[in-house]
Amino acid sequence: MNSEFDDLVDRTQTNSLKWDFRKEVFGRDDVLPLWVADSDWKTAQPIIDAIIQRAKHGVFGYTKPGKEATRLVVDWFRENHGWTIDPEWVVFTNGVVPSLSIALRANIKKGDGVIVQSPVYYPFFEVIDKSGAGVVTNELILDGTGYRMDYRGLDRICKYPGEDLPVKPKPKVLLLCNPHNPVGRVWAEEELLHLAEICLENELLLISDDIHAEFTYGDNRYTPIASLDEEVSRRSVTLLSPSKAFNTAGIPAGVAVIPDPLIRKKFNERKSKLLNGPSIFGLAALKAAYGSGDGWLERQLDYLEDNIEFTLDAVEGMRGVEAFRPEGTTLIWLDFRGLELTDEELEGFLVDKAKVGLDMGSWFGPGGEGFARLNVACQRETVKEGLSRISRALEDI
Ligand SMILES: Cc1ncc(COP(=O)(O)O)c(C=O)c1O
Repeated sequence: MNSEFDDLVDRTQTNSLKWDFRKEVFGRDDVLPLWVADSDWKTAQPIIDAIIQRAKHGVFGYTKPGKEATRLVVDWFRENHGWTIDPEWVVFTNGVVPSLSIALRANIKKGDGVIVQSPVYYPFFEVIDKSGAGVVTNELILDGTGYRMDYRGLDRICKYPGEDLPVKPKPKVLLLCNPHNPVGRVWAEEELLHLAEICLENELLLISDDIHAEFTYGDNRYTPIASLDEEVSRRSVTLLSPSKAFNTAGIPAGVAVIPDPLIRKKFNERKSKLLNGPSIFGLAALKAAYGSGDGWLERQLDYLEDNIEFTLDAVEGMRGVEAFRPEGTTLIWLDFRGLELTDEELEGFLVDKAKVGLDMGSWFGPGGEGFARLNVACQRETVKEGLSRISRALEDI
């Protein structure tokens, strides 16, 4: 049966980063773009309607979210994720990456360390660097069962910072990505508890980027780390946005959930200087998404699950390539190490031979070499075409 998500939407010449900037990113514009983590389908009708209605008003002056927006956020996280957020903790932002920058600048001094668990969403590296902090990498462990966190490594980094480095950045923050982009893990409660224990013991602030929270599959359930207990919650900043689940990244709006009054005050002071808040359209989208988007989200998740199954089946038949089944996100982490290519050769293979545009694993930091990330938030026809391009190119490698 045809689904609303099967309808092809031509995104070219719409200033789409994914479609209109292929030449700049990949050096050619005939690659099939499967990179940027946005979706190729229209958002939910209630969101489109809310934006049209707001646009018809015609006056677009300064704006500020009010109590209703806060209530919608609180209700959404209670009903969908079992997380009770006190309305006081909610701070509106214009997206996750800008809020991350604010949270870091408000809480670190030049030269402090921020721990990331690579391979991980690559803008983290730049934001940390630009905030004046040093990136401290604690690579995820990959074994026969998949990816897991390296707790011993984390403990060592906290106790003996920068052992073998000339500059020894003392870790002050751990930046979590949950669900994890790009490897697709939805961190389980026990894993988060173990992580939180180490963070508390070492007095680390926990910043959790949970932008992919709504994308989970099967029995995997998203657990906000701040929901574990009060002590953890008081050392946390959780960054959220409806923009992934509802495909509204071009009209940014987000939320930082900050339970501790002092951490929240520092965040707000930084934020007000940067005028960081959603635009009128971002706010209309956020309210419509959290207020009336749940039915559409369910249908989208079903479609995505089928895209994932389709991809996993197709990759099983490919020589030298393996796929990780994502527990969450719309991203499939592909392991090309079996081809024994350098990263440059792998990029050449994907771009020039297969003519597909994926995010190269090496962009995601240590542990990403030899991998590439495929975003399946696109019509099945596009997924099919991308995979058959890769499959054909593999035939004469
Ligand atoms: C883990 C993660 N965080 C943040 C973002 C971007 O957030 P925003 O557009 O709200 O700045 C993305 C986008 O792909 C992401 O995958």
